[in-house]
Amino acid sequence: QLAPLPPMTPAFLKTLNTVCQQCYRDFAPDDVELGVREHILQDLESFVKRQFTGARLRLFGSSKNGFGFKQSDLDICMVLDGQETAEGLDCISIIESLARLLRKHPGLRNILPITTAKVPIVKFYHARTGLEGDISLYNTLALHNTRLLASYAAIDLRVKMLCYVTKVFAKLCDIGDASRGSLSSYGFTLMVLFYLQQRNPPVIPVLQEIYDEEKKPEVLVDGWNVYFYDDLDKLPERWQQKNLESVGALWLGLLQFYTETFDFREHVISIRQSAALTTFNKQWTSKYIVIEDPFDLNHNLGAGLSRRMTNFIMKAFINGRSVFGTSVKAYPPEYTSPMEFF
Ligand code: CTP
Ligand code: MG
Repeated sequence: QLAPLPPMTPAFLKTLNTVCQQCYRDFAPDDVELGVREHILQDLESFVKRQFTGARLRLFGSSKNGFGFKQSDLDICMVLDGQETAEGLDCISIIESLARLLRKHPGLRNILPITTAKVPIVKFYHARTGLEGDISLYNTLALHNTRLLASYAAIDLRVKMLCYVTKVFAKLCDIGDASRGSLSSYGFTLMVLFYLQQRNPPVIPVLQEIYDEEKKPEVLVDGWNVYFYDDLDKLPERWQQKNLESVGALWLGLLQFYTETFDFREHVISIRQSAALTTFNKQWTSKYIVIEDPFDLNHNLGAGLSRRMTNFIMKAFINGRSVFGTSVKAYPPEYTSPMEFF
């Protein structure tokens, strides 16, 4: 049981709000930076085509989902023309020969194929921009979940802002790096979206539950239904924004939600449906933080967390709740830098 928070002063709530908005302004890439990413992609695609004639490269992840940082990695997916799925392809040897080819590219360094991971990739470093990146093959579900996240980001600016704040928070608390045993950015983004769906009134709808037909359409990719309502121009006919809270209040609300309200033992963080989903339903009771992928329903983003790491993440949220939930007079009203806050 956590001690109740002292009453929030309106001045401090305003500071929180400024901090959240500033976080977004400081870290969101501008159009030039997004253009640079597209340019690198085009250049790589024409280079790769020298050997893989029908190759097409596509960006996904935070270069496309609306929550990218200036220094975020380039997540790239390669597909071959006329080949719908990876079926029948020897992905490991394609990755290996792709790595040999990329070593000849003058602008790239540190080419490293990783063929033992669940999704085989080749990593690279783009010297001129200092960006790191990786290319995977037929990572089709990731292209769809990127589009889903981008749609949520486009519904309300507060979604974007909160995702930035949460990612900065996760990086600074050292809890946002799946390759080192914690949670991926993607996992944290799903946590933010789930909270925003559960907020009363909700800040975002459940796009996978909105459809015009009698029943939910089926769009199957790798055996999973990737349908969601993506006609955002028409969304206001189906769903109206009733939540008028400030981003600052929503940020504090998020920290309170995951430390006071949400029952991790009982429930799954799942953004695909509004009805509660239990860890028992999913047979995922051996883990404490359970985050269901919106499309690949067998994928628990929290599966790789150790007991120790789980405690470490929960402690970061508990500290966050008390730091951001306790009004401090010392911050001047014109205070704007979110970095000092953490
Ligand atoms: N992804 C996934 N399943 C995972 C991890 C990642 O499907 N367990 C996909 C998601 O589409 C995600 C993308 O891979 O957006 C890239 O993952 P990652 O680089 O971890 O997240 P980003 O959203 O790109 O964030 P960052 O800015 O930290 O790179
Ligand atoms: Mg990324």
